Amino acid sequence: MHWTTGSGSPEREKTDLIVLGATRLREKADPKPWRGLEPGLRRQLAALGSLDAFTAQAEQLHLLAGDGTRAPWVLVLGLGPADELSPQTLRCALGAASQKARALGAKTCALALPWEALAGLEPEAVVRCCVEGAELALFDAGACKAHTGKDRKPAPRTWKILAPAALKTAVAEGAAAGVDYAQGCLFARDLVNRPANLLGPRELAAEARALARREGLTCTVMGAAQLRRLGMGGVLGVGQGSARPPQFVVLDYKPRGVRGKLPLIALVGKGVTFDTGGISIKPSADMHEMKGDMGGAAAVLGAALIAVRRGLRARLLVVVPAVENMPDGNAIRPGDVLTMASGKTVEVLNTDAEGRLILADALHYACKQKPDFVIDAATLTGACVVALGDEFAGLFCNHAGLGDALDRAGGDTFERVWPMPLVKEHHKLIESGIADLQNIGGRYGGACTAAAFLAEFVDDETPWAHLDIAGPAWVGKPGPLGPKGATGYGARLIARALELLTERDAG
Ligand code: BES
Ligand code: MN
Ligand code: ZN
Repeated sequence: MHWTTGSGSPEREKTDLIVLGATRLREKADPKPWRGLEPGLRRQLAALGSLDAFTAQAEQLHLLAGDGTRAPWVLVLGLGPADELSPQTLRCALGAASQKARALGAKTCALALPWEALAGLEPEAVVRCCVEGAELALFDAGACKAHTGKDRKPAPRTWKILAPAALKTAVAEGAAAGVDYAQGCLFARDLVNRPANLLGPRELAAEARALARREGLTCTVMGAAQLRRLGMGGVLGVGQGSARPPQFVVLDYKPRGVRGKLPLIALVGKGVTFDTGGISIKPSADMHEMKGDMGGAAAVLGAALIAVRRGLRARLLVVVPAVENMPDGNAIRPGDVLTMASGKTVEVLNTDAEGRLILADALHYACKQKPDFVIDAATLTGACVVALGDEFAGLFCNHAGLGDALDRAGGDTFERVWPMPLVKEHHKLIESGIADLQNIGGRYGGACTAAAFLAEFVDDETPWAHLDIAGPAWVGKPGPLGPKGATGYGARLIARALELLTERDAG
């Protein structure tokens, strides 16, 4: 959708739909922001209030005829109580409004907000969140439908955001940022939803390469022969049960025309395009969701998209090990011992604990470039979902500044994280009798032993954060920010953390 700005009164906009944001008083909508409006519309709004039909609770929608305006329809949009207004309330409210706009077949929309009630928030952030919400809400999960687009009305073409003239620049900047953030998230959703027959390691690598070409990053893809040369026993071992060979993707971004030393930030994403569990095969119920086991890869690629478009002042290294975990005559067996790129040996006690095996090689590869920060994202453990549910990713981190940036970014984007422990006691649980490590711990603390395993492949002095996103990467039911399925979790979170990390460096 295309976003423009204006400062006129909503009733003078020639548009298909006026969206009028309204905050809530104790039990009814706040009439104050409507005072300046055209009398016909004001009467309708007053009647609405006195009927108690509309209390302006968050995401509540009420459609009025556009009497006294130049639009056929006015959609009154509840924003909830003014003192509870948060960026996430705005995202969800605009999500609900844009889904309604599409259902009405509106081609053009104008958005009027109660700016007085929003005074506690930065205008730029207000607009960024509105745009993000409206864009995320219209994500189409029906890419595989043969008649895609025919059974569903198209999204509105343009939105005009109305605001006092003094806010014009902030509004334009917020809208641009909102579009970039939403596109990174939608890019990730699209990859995660894509069925594994259509997205194997080779296709995931091709998507990364296409992204790199579009956005101006360099891209290197290594195949099995080169991985053997690098000794990547983890990636090769997990990949060897599949007819589709592993691919190891490296993207590199250097901002142009920026002088001085730039920090190097490495992003690593788990790219298991399908996880059957391998010989330690998973139960068949819900196994189809394992097409989304490359959610970490999607998140870091989406984050790179956002970061590059936002002009991040850092060098970025994006590392995606892409494999398919299948049971086969060539597959690794429980009990096999792999030698990893770092030289450490791993006894594979469960072939379903495959994510850590490929990430071990990818983290080692990233650390060799001596980055200032490393962030990995992975749909790594069901245990993390048991521990934290699907609203939070587990955050395992060895560096306070990096952890703090991710925590703040989680608040800003509402892709929230919760701190989890990295302690030596968990390392004890992954010691093997016959190799350096084993790839599973005991019965308890599965997310923590997985993180401890990864830590074995990260230099102690490298600031590193591991995000276990198995819970929030996927949602079981539709909501105001999109349909069921992939959420694109992590792209916006990581991109925002990169902004915070580099802002601090600059200051
Ligand atoms: N991809 C799964 C983790 C997962 C589970 C992601 C549910 C999304 C939803 C991972 O590879 C896995 O199978 N982990 C095992 C580890 C176990 C064998 C130690 C798990 O969590 O059960
Ligand atoms: Mn697995
Ligand atoms: Zn997996």
